[in-house]
Amino acid sequence: AATDKGGYKHFMAKEIAEQPTVLQGALANYIAPDADAVTLPDPGIDFAQIERLTMVACGTAYYACMVAKYWFEQIARLPVEIDVASEFRYREPPVTRGTVALFVSQSGETADTLAALRYMAGKAEKIVSVVNVAESSIARESDLALPIHAGAEIGVASTKAFTCQLTTLALLALKAASDRGEIDAATLNTHLGQLRQLPGILNTALGIEDNTRAIAADLAEARDILFLGRGAMYPLAHEGALKLKEISYIHAEAYASGELKHGPIALVDAHVPVIVMAPTDPLFDKTVSNMQEVMARGGKVLLITDEQGAKTASDGVWKTLILPKIDPFLAPILYAIPAQLLAYHTAIAKGTDVDQPRNLAKSVTVE
Ligand code: G6P
Repeated sequence: AATDKGGYKHFMAKEIAEQPTVLQGALANYIAPDADAVTLPDPGIDFAQIERLTMVACGTAYYACMVAKYWFEQIARLPVEIDVASEFRYREPPVTRGTVALFVSQSGETADTLAALRYMAGKAEKIVSVVNVAESSIARESDLALPIHAGAEIGVASTKAFTCQLTTLALLALKAASDRGEIDAATLNTHLGQLRQLPGILNTALGIEDNTRAIAADLAEARDILFLGRGAMYPLAHEGALKLKEISYIHAEAYASGELKHGPIALVDAHVPVIVMAPTDPLFDKTVSNMQEVMARGGKVLLITDEQGAKTASDGVWKTLILPKIDPFLAPILYAIPAQLLAYHTAIAKGTDVDQPRNLAKSVTVE
C-alpha cells in the first residue's frame, strides 16, 4: 500500500523506485494503448481558442510549470507566463482576454496556490488544475481538474508527483500542439510512442543508483553545490538544487548554464561541486562549453548525460552519470531521476531525516 514503506528504508526511496510503475498507470488515463490522441476528462479544453496560459504553483510543482513553459511555447506555440504563487497574487497581474489559468499542486491545498486560483477565478476564461489529490480544494474550485494519478506521496520531498506532473503537462502540451495545428500526425505519434516507452526508460535509469551512492558520499562533504542546465534542463537544475537543500541541508543553487559567467563562476573552486545536466540535444555543445569554463577554473564537475554525451565531453570531468538516450522532448522527466537519487544518497550519507526534513511540511496550508 502507499502508506507503508514496502521494504524500503524510507518513503522517499520507495516513491523514487515506484516511478516506472506509477507513471505507466498515470499515462493510461490520458492515452489508450494504440490511440493517437490525448483524451481529457470533460469539460475538456480547446487550445485553439486560447491566447495565453498562466501557470502558477509553489516548490517542486513550480519547477514542473517551468519545464511546461518550454514545452507549450516550443511545440504548441502558445505564450506561457509562469510565477510562484506567493508572488503572483500580490503583483496583481492584469489578465488579458483568452487567458487560461493552470495551477499545479500535489496536495491541492497549498494556501498560496489556492489564493492565486481565487484571484484568477472570474478573470480567466477557464481555471484548470493539475493535482494529485483529486478531492482537494484546488481541484474542487477548478473548471477542469486533471489528476496526475501518482498515488499517495508521503515523503516530504516530492518525487513521483513531480514526474507525474511533468507527464500530465507533456500530454497537455501535445494536446495543445495538436488543437492549434502546430504538430503533424507523425510527430505527434512519435512523441506519444516515446511517452509509452518512458516507464521502461525510467526503470533503466534507476540502475545509476550504485554510482550515485558513491558520488553522494563525496558530495556530502561539500558546503555549496551548483547545478547547471540549459533550456528545459534549467528547471531540472532547480529541482536538483531544491531536493538537495530540502533533505541534505547543503546549500545548492541552480543557474542557467549561460548565466554562469554573470556571477556564480566567481564561486568556482575545487571545493564547489558543479553538477551539469546535459542530454545530447541541440543545446548540448553550448552547455559543454559552459562546463569547460568551470573546469578551466579548477571546478569539480559531475556531468549527467547519455552515452554519446559522455563519449564526446567527459574529458577532465570529475565524475559522469550515464542515463539512457531519450527524445529531447522528454528528457526533463528522465533527468528527475538523478536529481532525486543524488539528494537521497547525499542525505543518507549525512544521516539526516529523509522523510521528515527539519522545518519543512508536506503541505503548506498557511501563507
Ligand atoms: C511544500 C512541499 C514541497 C511541494 C510544495 C508545493 O513545500 O514540501 O514538496 O513542492 O509544498 O506543494 P503542492 O502540494 O502545492 O504541490
